[in-house]
Amino acid sequence: MQLFLDTASVTEIRTMWEIGILDGVTTNPTLVSKEGRKFEELIREICAIGIPSVSAEVVATDVEGMLKEGRRLREIHPAIYVKIPMTPAGLQATKTLAKEGTRVNMTLVFSANQALLAAKVGAAYVSPFIGRLDDQGQVGMDLVREIVPIFRNYRYATKVLVASVRHPIHVLEAATAGADIATMPFAVMEKLPLHPLTDLGLARFLKDWEKVPKG
Ligand code: G3P
Repeated sequence: MQLFLDTASVTEIRTMWEIGILDGVTTNPTLVSKEGRKFEELIREICAIGIPSVSAEVVATDVEGMLKEGRRLREIHPAIYVKIPMTPAGLQATKTLAKEGTRVNMTLVFSANQALLAAKVGAAYVSPFIGRLDDQGQVGMDLVREIVPIFRNYRYATKVLVASVRHPIHVLEAATAGADIATMPFAVMEKLPLHPLTDLGLARFLKDWEKVPKG
């Protein structure tokens, strides 16, 4: 499974990229607004790090506007995936962009039927928002467990990108459900390599090593 960071922070992206566990980055207008930087300049800098997949979102809501922004974004760098919201206009724009060879990440997906439509119009990624479903009392991961077999049944090439991840259990459940990608905040990704028994075990090994005769 691929692991993406859901952030627009260059510092956070560089940290995980250097460790070697990062496969991609997803941004959205909210995350970009936190950085206080010009959008395209920021996206260029993220791409220049060498991240193979960088999702950048359109803000137009009409088909023509989405096409215009999507075509502009894809020219920034070959790593760009154009993020388009799941609306009728978004589906129409995605179909056109996909035919042109642009990779689209359909976002704000909250039902399996929405995911099915995203696959039908040729989206490269579909992004179910798990945490936001959990927030309102629905088991968000059930949506991933519905989408994965649907895509397998019809051999859609669209990848399931689990978004709105809030904690490591979401990552574990996304992996067991067969999702292709999970995108998560830095605070979640930095927890993945950690376990208290690893720390205790290492401390014990180092202490015992002190008893080994040296020289
Ligand atoms: O990038 C989209 C998604 O991951 C947002 O997550 O935490 O704002 O629901 P969240």
